[in-house]
Amino acid sequence: MFFSLITTLIFISHVLPSYSESSFEMKISGGNAVRIKDYPFQVSLLHRNNQWCSGTIVSKSHVLTAAHCIVFASSYLYIRAGSSYWNKGGSIHSIVYNATYGKKLNEDLAILRVWAHFNFDETRQPISIFYRDEVISPGTMGTVIGWGMTSETTSSYQLQAVELPSLDRNKCQLIFKDTIIGKIVDGEICVGYINKNNKNICQGDSGGPLVIDQRQAGIVSMGRGCGYPNSPAIFIDTAYYNQWILEQISL
Ligand SMILES: *[C@@H]1O[C@H](CO)[C@@H](O)[C@H](O)[C@H]1NC(C)=O
Repeated sequence: MFFSLITTLIFISHVLPSYSESSFEMKISGGNAVRIKDYPFQVSLLHRNNQWCSGTIVSKSHVLTAAHCIVFASSYLYIRAGSSYWNKGGSIHSIVYNATYGKKLNEDLAILRVWAHFNFDETRQPISIFYRDEVISPGTMGTVIGWGMTSETTSSYQLQAVELPSLDRNKCQLIFKDTIIGKIVDGEICVGYINKNNKNICQGDSGGPLVIDQRQAGIVSMGRGCGYPNSPAIFIDTAYYNQWILEQISL
């Protein structure tokens, strides 16, 4: 089921020029099952009754996610908030409108406005984003949270979290320079291990957060494979886009 979903996405990506040949659909591998009370900003984006992407609550009626989660959706999306499980519990919210940042692959962020606002409680809370132009030093550990596959063949109904380090931009650039991802640009950050175990992001956690010290530093955007060595992932830098995000929330 997950693989047919991914195949669909790759097919669609060839139809959309600015999003072509990208490796999307990220999930977590090597993580631990966690509870929504520990990450109450996390929401699931559902598409045709399946887990599709993650997002984060950033105001009473706004969710931050990756643009490709919106662009590739072939039918309407809805949001489940306040549950540790993507397939049950919590509250369901439909989307009034979406605002994607830009048309380029590397401008991969979007804001969704929900109809029924979030009732803040221990399972639903907003997260603050990194300050404008705040820089993350390489090696800083962060938490990446999502529902996705825990390996290339298994998926999880329960929320997962994994601790990953930020990676030096030049080291990351060396890894991706000859791949379809190509140049790492401003507004993108690299996260993950090089040459280490199976902890990394793989298909399906797109749109989910990188959290450092209780604030959102990044949005899961792109990567390749699942828990491969030498495969850190590309995240959108929320500090770089801080102003746009705050503007959208104020609307
Ligand atoms: C996003 O907004 C566009 C433009 O209003 C709309 O056509 C599209 O269906 C929306 N996508 C989703 C997933 O809500």
